[in-house]
Amino acid sequence: MSEAAETVRLFFALWPPGELQGKLAAWAKQAAGRGRATRRENIHLTLAFLGDTKASLVPELIALARDLAFPPVRLALDRVGYWKHNRIIWCGAGEEPNALLDLVDVLRARMDAGGIHYDHKPFVSHVTLVRDATGLPADPAPAWMPLVWDARDFALVSSARVDGRVTYQVLRRFPAQPG
Ligand code: 2AM
Repeated sequence: MSEAAETVRLFFALWPPGELQGKLAAWAKQAAGRGRATRRENIHLTLAFLGDTKASLVPELIALARDLAFPPVRLALDRVGYWKHNRIIWCGAGEEPNALLDLVDVLRARMDAGGIHYDHKPFVSHVTLVRDATGLPADPAPAWMPLVWDARDFALVSSARVDGRVTYQVLRRFPAQPG
C-alpha cells in the first residue's frame, strides 16, 4: 500500500454506554420519518473531528490523549432539535458543563501543539440522532428526557464505510480522573 493510501478518518468523542445508546436510538427510529436514524452502536458526541489523518499519527494521538487529566463529564440530555442547514435531528444538554468545554479546549490545544489537523469550527455539543430529516416529529419530547449521562472516559474513534454503512471503531478509551 502506498503511504498516501494509509489514512484513517478519525475523531475524538464521548461514547455512551449501550443502555443510553439504546434509548436514544429507539427514539431516533420513531422520530426519523423519511430520514435515516443513527444506528444504536453509532450514537456518540463528537469532541473534535480530525477527518482523514495519516495512520502513522495514531500512536501520537493516543499519547497526547492518554495523560490528559479531566474530571468525569455529567450531561443532562434535556433537549432535541432540528438543524435545517444539515438536516439533522440532534439531542443535547441545555447546560453544557465546564468539564465538557474544558476537555474540548485541552484536546484542541494539544493537537495545536502537536501540529495535528482537525476541524476548527466552534464546538457545538450534540448527539446526531437522524440524518436527512425534514423536521422534528409533532410531539418532540422524548419520554426519557432528561437523560443523565455520566461520561467517565472519552475515545479516539475511526470511521469507515463497511458494506455501504458508516461503521465506527473505538480505537482507544481514555479514562477520567475523578476529582
Ligand atoms: P455530525 O453528527 O454533526 O455530522 C463523525 O463524522 C462525527 O464527526 C459526527 O458526529 C460528525 O458530526 C462529526 N463531525 C464534526 N465535524 C465534521 C466534519 N467536518 N465532517 C464530518 N463529520 C464531522
